[in-house]
Amino acid sequence: MPGREVLHHVQRGQHGPVLLFLHCFPTHQAQWLLQLEHFARQYRVIAPDFRGAGRSVVVDPTITVTMEQQATEVIALLDHLGITEPVHLIGLSMGGYVAWQLAATYPERLASMVLCHTRVVADTPEQAQGRHRLAAQTLRERSAEAILSVMVPRLLPESASPEVVERVEQLAREASPEGLAAILRGLAARPDVSLLLPTMQHQCLVISGELDAISPPAEMQAWAAKLPSSRFLSLPGVGHLSPLEAPALFNQTLAEHAPW
Ligand code: MLT
Repeated sequence: MPGREVLHHVQRGQHGPVLLFLHCFPTHQAQWLLQLEHFARQYRVIAPDFRGAGRSVVVDPTITVTMEQQATEVIALLDHLGITEPVHLIGLSMGGYVAWQLAATYPERLASMVLCHTRVVADTPEQAQGRHRLAAQTLRERSAEAILSVMVPRLLPESASPEVVERVEQLAREASPEGLAAILRGLAARPDVSLLLPTMQHQCLVISGELDAISPPAEMQAWAAKLPSSRFLSLPGVGHLSPLEAPALFNQTLAEHAPW
């Protein structure tokens, strides 16, 4: 976006193919800490904060940052870093929503996709209205607490450890109210991408969680079957945030099954 600073990001590892980690909502790039540490030994790993999340600031309280705009900003970041080779993308939930837009508009910039705990349908009108109400409340209260009270019970299963709950809450509290509101409006505006599935050219690994309340395994398996080249896995005992809930299992799954 003209005049804007490039997305805040972290980079680890000097050699090997590029792995691009795209986070979910309402967290930021630091959710991938244990993945970056693990994979930086063999790969060049990059994790941006989406616009509005973490340190990729938004100051205007009225704006919407769409998934399409997030994708454009991710490409601007790769350009800024001089990365012209196709990258291997790992997207979690909102990271997956942005992955669909990247694959649709910039297919030549991707080598493969790992789609974790994500969806292909748009919000229902009721869900979209709920997000707009939550955006207004977040701005009014100048806090992430309303988002956390609605979302944490859906992001994490009851079996999640208190440390994981605390970590998710901490990551959400590090965003500004303006940023959280801009992303909520963008999530509400995201398109249904079901018709794109059969046109996807990349090899895909689809990872779901047995206890995921937001993107249940049956729903994910049904859309994964429409991808021309995909493998579907369901991880036992985890909800929507497997990289945080079970990092060793998630890393091992990527190491064994990712298409790189
Ligand atoms: C996420 O994890 O990114 C969100 O749960 C996505 C959503 O609310 O649709």
